[in-house]
Amino acid sequence: MSNGMASCARIGIVGLGRMGERIGRAAIQLGHEIVATHDVVAEPFALATNPDLAAAPRVQTLDEFWRVPMDMVAIATHGPTHCPYLLEGIERGNRRFLVEKPLATSLAEARLAASAASAVGARVVVNHGRRYCGIYDALTTMDGSDEMGSLRSGILTMGAGGLGCMGIHFFDLFNRALGRPRSVYATLTSPRGVNPRGDEFTDPGGTVVISYEGGRRALIDMGDDVGVPGRMEFVYERGRVVIESELEPWRILRRPAASRELPTSRYGTPLEEVSMPDFRPCEIIYATSGAITDALSDGPTVSGIEVGVESMEVYCALRWSALTGAPASVPLPAEAEDIRYAIT
Ligand SMILES: NC(=O)c1ccc[n+]([C@@H]2O[C@H](COP(=O)([O-])OP(=O)(O)OC[C@H]3O[C@@H](n4cnc5c(N)ncnc54)[C@H](O)[C@@H]3O)[C@@H](O)[C@H]2O)c1
Repeated sequence: MSNGMASCARIGIVGLGRMGERIGRAAIQLGHEIVATHDVVAEPFALATNPDLAAAPRVQTLDEFWRVPMDMVAIATHGPTHCPYLLEGIERGNRRFLVEKPLATSLAEARLAASAASAVGARVVVNHGRRYCGIYDALTTMDGSDEMGSLRSGILTMGAGGLGCMGIHFFDLFNRALGRPRSVYATLTSPRGVNPRGDEFTDPGGTVVISYEGGRRALIDMGDDVGVPGRMEFVYERGRVVIESELEPWRILRRPAASRELPTSRYGTPLEEVSMPDFRPCEIIYATSGAITDALSDGPTVSGIEVGVESMEVYCALRWSALTGAPASVPLPAEAEDIRYAIT
């Protein structure tokens, strides 16, 4: 990222729920000005809980919102309006956006938005917040090191957060660590009760196996019948990283130097634990601040629209796999790219 509009940018926020509040809070902390806010409900969460946002100018209609001059537009509504609002914002002449994940509700819609942004040179950041947390770079730094060897797999187990809502963050993280997905196999579970963001949304959990180029793989197990926080493991040839809780220091276990060259079939070789220096947790306001700064910067994006398209590709592949009962190869057939999912 290079400095584009580092300070005091004019920011508009549409969607004033929990995430709209975080974006507003982070933007104000960074010294930016909230020049327009809009939400369809009378007393949205962000205005009820954050006096700074309650004091910012609020407009009643989307048309009024677009008429306010803004340096950056944050779209923190529910999934089905992310892309339509992005397209309308581009049409109205805006050129910098922070869009919440999931970028879209179908892969075709995500691709359309990416083309529209590219056609006019709009800078679109998709808030896959872990992209702004350097701690995850450690996974790649260790990949291929003498101590750990090649990264072979990533595993996430977690409760009922929905594969479209929470799972998509991890599809992006695994894409970042493991490379280009080749195929996806999934089975789904059934959500218990109504989706917390409204009964118009259906976001099943399930079990997903992603195969990446070079034989790497990821396993994501997020059943609706489980209510536990996320836990991850990244498994290398000669060691593993255990992330019991993302906000607490990770455990790094690896073979001692003397047993490094033993064959993998000697899997019983004991591992030693080493400390992880410079652990900085990926707290959500810190990550969101990174996304705002990315949207307001120039040069290559950290989490640009292509990142949102790629995570949607994994999501649509898993749904296609569950529908067809077979592994889904990526790229998907056009009919799979066109299906819309009621996710947010
Ligand atoms: N990046 C992250 O870490 C992260 C974390 C939480 C949520 N999110 C994403 O942010 C989005 C919002 O989530 P949330 O937790 O704030 O949900 P929420 O339900 O708390 O808030 C959404 C707000 O958007 C408003 N809204 C919905 N449709 C609208 C429309 N057409 N026009 C104007 N306002 C509209 C709603 O009235 C509500 O106030 C979701 O897509 C979610 O996946 C991202």
